[in-house]
Amino acid sequence: MNAIEQAVERGRALIGAATTPAELQAAHSEAFGRRSALAAMTAALRDLGPEERRERGRELQEARAELTDLYTARAAELEQAAALDRARAERLDLTEQVWSMAGAGGPLARSLGAPVPAGHLHLVTQVRQEVEDIFIAMGFEVAEGPEVEDDWHNFEALNMPLHHPARGMFDTFYLRAGEPESVLLRTHTSPVQVRLMESRRPPIYAVAPGRCFRRDTPDATHLPVFHQLEALVVDEGISMSHLAGALDAFTDAFFGPGRRARLRPSFFPFTEPSAEFDVTCWVCGGAGCRTCAGSGWVELGGCGMVDPAVFSAVGVDPERYTGFAWGLGIDRLAAARTNLGDIRDLLDNDVRFLTQF
Ligand code: DAH
Repeated sequence: MNAIEQAVERGRALIGAATTPAELQAAHSEAFGRRSALAAMTAALRDLGPEERRERGRELQEARAELTDLYTARAAELEQAAALDRARAERLDLTEQVWSMAGAGGPLARSLGAPVPAGHLHLVTQVRQEVEDIFIAMGFEVAEGPEVEDDWHNFEALNMPLHHPARGMFDTFYLRAGEPESVLLRTHTSPVQVRLMESRRPPIYAVAPGRCFRRDTPDATHLPVFHQLEALVVDEGISMSHLAGALDAFTDAFFGPGRRARLRPSFFPFTEPSAEFDVTCWVCGGAGCRTCAGSGWVELGGCGMVDPAVFSAVGVDPERYTGFAWGLGIDRLAAARTNLGDIRDLLDNDVRFLTQF
């Protein structure tokens, strides 16, 4: 056997014996690396005459090609085995759970004679219900509105006439129905405020939870489908301090003492003055991280004193009544409560994530 054949033989053995990616990598450097026999023979080519160099060069080329093929094939085998191992480790056999877990038995389970696990509400639903309870205890009623809205309720009555620049804050999904851009998926729960005031006279003390839609790219703190909790209070003598007091009471009830909250001046067309409601970042505790984009605070929603123009649009007398309103992100409340670094986890429907809550 000549030296090249020996090198191929040895490389073949090394590659074949590798059982992990790390071992394969080691086999690769031993067969092909700078200190390998192949490398030494390739370097020695320069000392040969032209004839012999061509001949030996070709043999070395073939040896490399053979070993490279072996290496590639082995790498694919190992990758496939690793994928299988991962799949086995993450395997969830739901039929096994039906038989082994104690729980409420549904009709199907009873017919089989076995208990079925009852499952539980999604984290976002749990948080929504808890937040509703907090406000019910404070004397608020819970209201609802449609997810498919018209331009009047979502924009116009909220002091955003057609072509108002503030509409740019809301990247809107329009439906192909009626006049172009007249029917849409609501971009916030604020249209429920309009519907409440259209349907009755003050005093109004209401919260309205619900799903909202925006053409946003998902990231750690944004989802294109998300949930808000709207609040609307309209009565005689309502001031900004009532707004701050209600938010404080809510923060204490929901987070317990210890979490810091702040109101930061902002702008919304439907409130004057307007503010944003922030809490200290739950991931870094205020030091600055990816979730809070380095600021130490995460915005939970917007709020303010209802703009007189909104009252006028729905026929409430702005001389007699004042009011406050807000829209809080329920998904962010859920993330804040559970120290969730990436809000997209809420939509993945991964049982391993969901069963933790
Ligand atoms: N609708 C606003 C948004 O989605 C949030 C908001 C701000 C709601 C101020 C309000 C409010 O009720 O008064 O960005």
